[in-house]
Amino acid sequence: MARIISGVQPTGTLNIGGYLGAFRHWPTYQDEHEAYFFVADLHALTVRQDPVVLAGRTRDVAASLLAIGIDPTRATVFLQSEVAAHTRLAWLLQCSASIGEMQRMTQFKDKSAGKDMVSLGLLTYPALMAADVLLYQADAVPVGDDQRQHLELTRDLAIRFNNRYGETFVVPEAQISPVAGRIMDLQDPTKKMSKSNDSPMGAIDLTDEPEVIRRKISRAVTDSEAEVAYDPARKPGVSNLLELLAAATGQNPSQLAGQYDRYGTLKSDTAEAISELLRPVRERYGELCKDPGQIDAALATGAQRAREIAEDTYRRAARAMGVSC
Ligand code: TYM
Repeated sequence: MARIISGVQPTGTLNIGGYLGAFRHWPTYQDEHEAYFFVADLHALTVRQDPVVLAGRTRDVAASLLAIGIDPTRATVFLQSEVAAHTRLAWLLQCSASIGEMQRMTQFKDKSAGKDMVSLGLLTYPALMAADVLLYQADAVPVGDDQRQHLELTRDLAIRFNNRYGETFVVPEAQISPVAGRIMDLQDPTKKMSKSNDSPMGAIDLTDEPEVIRRKISRAVTDSEAEVAYDPARKPGVSNLLELLAAATGQNPSQLAGQYDRYGTLKSDTAEAISELLRPVRERYGELCKDPGQIDAALATGAQRAREIAEDTYRRAARAMGVSC
């Protein structure tokens, strides 16, 4: 069975961008693949976090993963920090990666721009991400478009390691959703919708109630024209709404554009479609909150399963490099 892995940082509440670009597809892997999904809590530390808030968000994101339909009996769900092999392999990979490779990552450039203090972890983040994937000998990694460059680097590091030290890692493929690979912020449609944005009106959270979804979409920034057209460069706001509606209803954004002559109806239909799409997630999330023991049990079993395979790969990599594990 092919193996897949993917992760999500607990830097905020999960939103519709990550859902349409990545998480929505995750449950579909659990029957025909050996699937691993994790909360990348160590990655969140690359920018300063309030410890209590981080711990709460980590649990919350784990609950959201179960709410979107990941079944801990058919997939392995765990917290990255509970599997020590991630940081251990990251060190081995950092020692065969160059500073230049890390500095070329666009996410590093974006996240470090204009900051007084940039953590070393933010620079070396892609080596930890490569370790996350390579430890599980994953064949494929389902992610949104913004992770493409990190996955390219993961492949480069795996190939380099295999060439230098002998076949050790499976070289993984990125699996990027052909639709909704990059959902934009509702208030600034030139920016990716992100969990950690300051503007709560820019993102639709997975657990937002229908009236909140309606309010956010009705206030979404469009443009001063009146024509509904799918043209992301010239009309980023309207195109983003079309992309959301298309992804939620399984249609094509350009074709959908032809069915609307007013922004108002496009907005109300988009709000309705998103709200319906998220209904089961909202309901399951509410149930899980009443029974937190389920989340703890899933994470404990998941960490144990993940450790077995991760430790085995780590030992092989360490020995290949000549260090005793
Ligand atoms: P993160 O936490 O930013 O996002 C989780 C997943 O959601 C996708 N995504 C989006 N897709 C479409 N439109 C958006 N606006 C949007 N925002 C987020 C992301 O592409 C991602 O697939 N570095 C990763 C976490 C990570 C990881 C890994 C992923 C750590 N180790 C190993 C895969 C494998 C990240 O920051 O994702």
